[in-house]
Amino acid sequence: EGFIFKEKEPLWRHTTFRVGGPADYLFYPRNFLELSRGLEIFKAEGVPVYFLGGGSNLLVRDGGFRGAFISLSRLDFCEPEGERVRAGAGVSLAKLLNFCALNGLAGLEFLAGVPATVGGAVKMNAGAFGQEIGQLVEEVTVYKDGNFLSLSRARLSFAYRFSNIPDEAVIMAVTFRLKKDYQERINERMADCWRRRKKTQPLNEPSAGCVFKNPPGFSAGALIDQAGLKGLRSGGAEISRKHANFIVNRDGARAQDILRLIDFARERVFQLFGVELEEELRV
Ligand code: EPU
Repeated sequence: EGFIFKEKEPLWRHTTFRVGGPADYLFYPRNFLELSRGLEIFKAEGVPVYFLGGGSNLLVRDGGFRGAFISLSRLDFCEPEGERVRAGAGVSLAKLLNFCALNGLAGLEFLAGVPATVGGAVKMNAGAFGQEIGQLVEEVTVYKDGNFLSLSRARLSFAYRFSNIPDEAVIMAVTFRLKKDYQERINERMADCWRRRKKTQPLNEPSAGCVFKNPPGFSAGALIDQAGLKGLRSGGAEISRKHANFIVNRDGARAQDILRLIDFARERVFQLFGVELEEELRV
C-alpha cells in the first residue's frame, strides 16, 4: 500500500549503542493515518509491536525482536504556535532545539547534546543540569487502543526520569511552552551546555547515555567510579574511563557484553556501598 517497510532489519543500525539483532519488520509511518492502518494490520496478524524513538536509551538483545519495530522518525513535523512549539514524536532533540533557536524560542537549551527524540525524552522525562523536559510540556497527544487522545498539562505528572504516560499510550506529538528570547542568547546557552557535557561525558563513542538512574542522594557514576570499575571490559564493551555511568561500545560489542557489565556494576556497588542501582536503559 506504499508503506515504508523493511524486513529482517538489523536493529544495531537504529540504536546509539550500535548493538542489537534483527527485527522481523521495521515500519516507518509518515503520518497518523498510516500508523493506525499499520497497527491494525499487525494486530490482525498477531505481530507484536515495539515503538522506536531515538534508540538512545535502548539495549536490543543480540537475538533481535520477533515482531515489528515502528520507527516514529518520519513523524518529524515542528510547528510554532506563538510562544509554543508542537513537535512530532520522532523529531530529534537536535532538530527541535535548532528550530527553537531559529524562531527565538527559549527554554529547552539544557537538552543540547542529549541524543533523543521528542517522544522518548518526554516519556522518560529526560533531564540535565537540574532541569527536566517535563517542566515545559503543555500537552501530549498519544495513540491508545486505536484512538488519539490529548493529555493536557493538568493530567500529566513528571518526576525524576518518570512520566505518568502509560506504556500502552504511545506519544505521537508534544506541545512545549517556551519563552521569547534573542537567538544569540539561546545559541550561547546551548553551546555552554554542550561544552559542560563534553567535559564529563564520552560523547564520541557509541553509548546509551547514563546506564543507571541516580539513587536518591547519590550519583551512580561516582559510586561505580569509587568501586574502581572504570575501564572494565567485557568483550567489546567498556565502562567508560571518562564517566563511570556510561558503557561504551569500543569494538563490536554484543548486547551480552553490555548486560554483563551492567550486572557486575550493580552487584559490586551493592556489595561495597549497600546502594541498589536501577537501570535507566530499556532492555
Ligand atoms: N563522578 C565521578 N566519577 C564518574 C562520574 C561522576 O566521581 O565517573 C562524580 C562527579 O565528579 C560529580 C558527580 O559524580 O561530582 C555527578 O556527576 P555528573 O555531574 O556527571 O552528573 P551525573 O549525576 O552523573 C546526571 C544525569 C545525566 C546528565 C548530567 C548533567 C542521571 C543518571 N544522570 O549525571 O544524564 O547529563 O547529570 O546534568 O541522572 C542520562 O540520563 O542519560 C544522563 C547522561
